[in-house]
Amino acid sequence: MKGIILAAGAGSRLYPASSAISKILLPVYDKPMIYYPLCTLMLANIRDIQIITTERDQRNFVEVLGDGSCFGLNISYAVQEVPKGIVDAFMIAEDFIRGDKCCLTLGDNIFHGMNFIHMLHRAASRETGATVFGYLVRDPSRFGVVEFDESGKVLSLEEKPEHPKSDYAVTGLYFYDSSVCDYARVVRPSPRGELEITDLNKMYLARGQLNVEILGRGFAWLDTGTFDSLLQASNFVQSMELNTGVKIACLEEVAYNNGFLTADEIMNNIKNKKSNGYYDYVTNVISRPRVPLESKLRSR
Ligand code: DAU
Repeated sequence: MKGIILAAGAGSRLYPASSAISKILLPVYDKPMIYYPLCTLMLANIRDIQIITTERDQRNFVEVLGDGSCFGLNISYAVQEVPKGIVDAFMIAEDFIRGDKCCLTLGDNIFHGMNFIHMLHRAASRETGATVFGYLVRDPSRFGVVEFDESGKVLSLEEKPEHPKSDYAVTGLYFYDSSVCDYARVVRPSPRGELEITDLNKMYLARGQLNVEILGRGFAWLDTGTFDSLLQASNFVQSMELNTGVKIACLEEVAYNNGFLTADEIMNNIKNKKSNGYYDYVTNVISRPRVPLESKLRSR
């Protein structure tokens, strides 16, 4: 399965904070925002990843992540010239996907909570259809909205509806089967001029092939689109990390536990980094036995 991170937005709602740098590289507490969606893909055990950015921002992303080898990943980069809509990601990444299954995540979506790895693996293991993730929100009109019945069967999907049929937003994390590029090519611009991800998902729904996983109470889905929500995301990560002593989205830790890299390889990669809270944590984690993903899955 391939992974795509869409990180090509202008980020103009965060100007001047993001005027010279992609919003997706701004810090969320102790690491750049891109670490969080990258961590989501790694937790799903995805190692072949394409990051779609603007032309201007690409070199900064390369500077931060390189070819991904320091996290045991193969990262490639592509450019979105014009923000035509989220579905455009599948046109841009078609050669990269090469008929494989694919997971797309938006660069500004942060997920954290119980059972997440289990849900990611269940979604990644489906051979046909699509999987989206629903999350209870106060202001569903700002999002794609999913309506479902008591058995969890999806009844409808709408993009930013004036009168939402439910309070469940569709988050910016999507798993698709190998037909996704064929479906994406058929999507036409919406009245607001964008190739809407909701229209793509509706095609899967029409074929009875759309699954919804609900991210339940206690799960955090964080939006980083405004000054306040960006700060709230940083505060959330800080509070979780200080309370538990465990880092969120520490990519070296995930690479180690997933068996992508050995402790020696990680140690070699970070040997020239200055000692600080982040790298001291990495050094500590890799000095302990790995906690393989499979054992976390087995304990569910
Ligand atoms: O965050 C979840 C929501 O994301 C979903 O509930 C909606 O169904 C989905 O349409 C999307 O809504 P947004 O209004 O949040 O999308 P936005 O245009 O803000 O784009 C989300 C991110 O993707 C943002 O960081 C910019 C980036 N992006 C967006 C577009 C349209 C691109 O890189 N290229 C694009 O062409």
